[in-house]
Amino acid sequence: MRDKKIVIAIDGYSSTGKSSFAGKIARKLSYIYVDTGAMYRAVTLYCIENGFIGNCGLNVDKIIENLEKIDIKFVFNSNIKKNETFLNGENVESKIRNVEISNHVSEISTIPEVRTQMVALQREMGKNKGIVMDGRDIGTVVFPDAEIKIFMTAKPEIRAIRRYNELLQNGENVTLQEIEKNIRERDYIDTHRDTSPLKKADDAIVLDNSDISIDEQMQWFEKIFQSVIKKQ
Ligand code: DC
Repeated sequence: MRDKKIVIAIDGYSSTGKSSFAGKIARKLSYIYVDTGAMYRAVTLYCIENGFIGNCGLNVDKIIENLEKIDIKFVFNSNIKKNETFLNGENVESKIRNVEISNHVSEISTIPEVRTQMVALQREMGKNKGIVMDGRDIGTVVFPDAEIKIFMTAKPEIRAIRRYNELLQNGENVTLQEIEKNIRERDYIDTHRDTSPLKKADDAIVLDNSDISIDEQMQWFEKIFQSVIKKQ
């Protein structure tokens, strides 16, 4: 029964632990895991490095013109048992997690042409199923027929603390206030943009993990998975 491969779409707000949850599910099921936020972050890094994001804002024309030069791949690192993001052949996994990228990524991901390119790549990655993909529009746009759709949420102040601790561990010099502000701003942009805004798919199941551990989330998921896979 478990041999039958399905698509698992996980959407939700920033810093709700989507990546940890999705990655754990993928490892448990031996599925491919794709962090689509990393793809938008890689595009943002490319734009910063090439001067398309400046003091006067985004140079959208230049970004669109250069999109075909952006090659994003995930490569599995067997030492840490995780996928790492490669931008034009360079491992950018740590570069794309910094605050500067977080400050611009929501804006970059409002550009429809950027989204079209990323969505095409994501559909290609999931065409054989057996995939767990997390992001903002996976259950609504990328895989509207996904067999399991989960919508993750948690209180903003709790998300801010989680993110703050993560950044401190990475040696970033940030304040909790600044992180909470960034999270609230990203929530606003992600839910209000014209193209593919973050919203719960009608058939998604909500997971509020403000007060539950990753192990409890996995137990919750296992029940859902069992009931869905039985019907396949
Ligand atoms: O999941 P994350 O925080 O790494 O995502 C970074 C940003 O990318 C987020 O603010 C919104 C955008 N994003 C998106 O628009 N669509 C996706 N499928 C994934 C991320």
